[in-house]
Amino acid sequence: MTELTDITGPATPADPVAFPQDRTCPYHPPTGYAPLRDGHDLSRVTLFDGREVWAVTAHATARALLADPRLSSDRRHPDFPVPTERFAGVRDRRVALLGVDDPEHQRQRRMMIPSFTLKRAAELRPWIQRTVDGLLDAMIAQGPPAELVSAFALPVPSMVICRLLGVPYADHEFFEEQSRRLLRGPAAADTLDARARLENYLGRLIDDKAKQSEPGEGVLDDIVHGRLREGALSRDELVSLALILLVAGHETTANMISLGTYTLLRHPARLAELRADPALLPAAVEELMRMLSIADGLFRVALEDVEVAGATIRAGEGVLFSTSVINRDPSQYEDPDTLDFHRPARHHVAFGFGIHQCLGQNLARAELEIALGGLLTRLPGLRLAVPAEDVRFKPGDTIQGMLELPVTW
Ligand code: HEM
Repeated sequence: MTELTDITGPATPADPVAFPQDRTCPYHPPTGYAPLRDGHDLSRVTLFDGREVWAVTAHATARALLADPRLSSDRRHPDFPVPTERFAGVRDRRVALLGVDDPEHQRQRRMMIPSFTLKRAAELRPWIQRTVDGLLDAMIAQGPPAELVSAFALPVPSMVICRLLGVPYADHEFFEEQSRRLLRGPAAADTLDARARLENYLGRLIDDKAKQSEPGEGVLDDIVHGRLREGALSRDELVSLALILLVAGHETTANMISLGTYTLLRHPARLAELRADPALLPAAVEELMRMLSIADGLFRVALEDVEVAGATIRAGEGVLFSTSVINRDPSQYEDPDTLDFHRPARHHVAFGFGIHQCLGQNLARAELEIALGGLLTRLPGLRLAVPAEDVRFKPGDTIQGMLELPVTW
């Protein structure tokens, strides 16, 4: 384990706080992160295994360091920080895109970019709209109350990523369950087992696609009948790419739809503002992304010494980016704890920054605008079906979200 460099002077606060912690309020950073918000660019946090790593908490420094090639995303690096116990068992495993440095990362990302452009997301909008409308029709036909996570927030991104990749939605219960175990299973064994099951499933799907004489409509079909045949990537690499796209493509957006809805319901004045002026939706999505920062904990390891903000991050030291804290930096966002659809929120780091900045962000924005817009217009009386304090949230972790959201209208 790597020890932190001793810092003298005011560069960092004295006592490391534990990371991650449970959020006290689901749309605010945990109150226990208060020491991370006291004006330093860098602080220190302690992970579950007792290891101390740097926590980058200032917006400008975070963007500079997220774009710095001296910080690596390679999970196989012996000093790569492990955020929770269940990931300790998978550190030897290669993670496509997210866990790969340039130049290999660039090669993988280039293969995927054409399927995730703004134009491609715009082309998918009518289909996303029909999907959202269909799910809302079913909820309305069934009548209130409803559990919004299972009836809406999860199916929307699941259906969209299935259509985009060419994965049969009929298998959604299987891959949603395995993704949940992969990201939040109680033990390392769950994470490993869920990963193996998803890899087997996607491997078989890819083999089936390879046997077809004509490619189907998804991104995986294109790659199987193009680059895989040409030998530009291996089957294992494609399985690993498919896995990250499938998991990242539904789990995060589902959390944003449910937590975004809850946050709007807890801010009636903002909700009324949005209903009165739906043109505010894109700005509202951006501000909700900033405020909720659901992917709260991006990790790196330093490959060389990095001098930054009066401190030295030594080679081998771990670095954490707490997006919930960075996105509330008062030097970047005035009155940062307030939900305000009129602020320029766009430079938030809720989708990350630098070479790993979210590949699916155009798609996620389209889904969020259409899903939240649909809920507001089709269910004008939407409200919580239980007292706000009875709503169940996911425990403190690197991905925030809701377990269920009982609503009525
Ligand atoms: C609102 C929903 C989403 C949030 C909050 C989110 C957040 C993020 C963040 C913070 C990163 C950077 C991680 C890092 O630097 O370590 C990332 C990367 C990534 N995201 Fe998303 N994401 C969302 C939706 C999506 C969707 C819909 C997809 C679609 C497939 C997707 C695919 C990816 C991929 C493949 C990467 C890795 C990119 C790379 O390393 O080049 N995400 N996401």
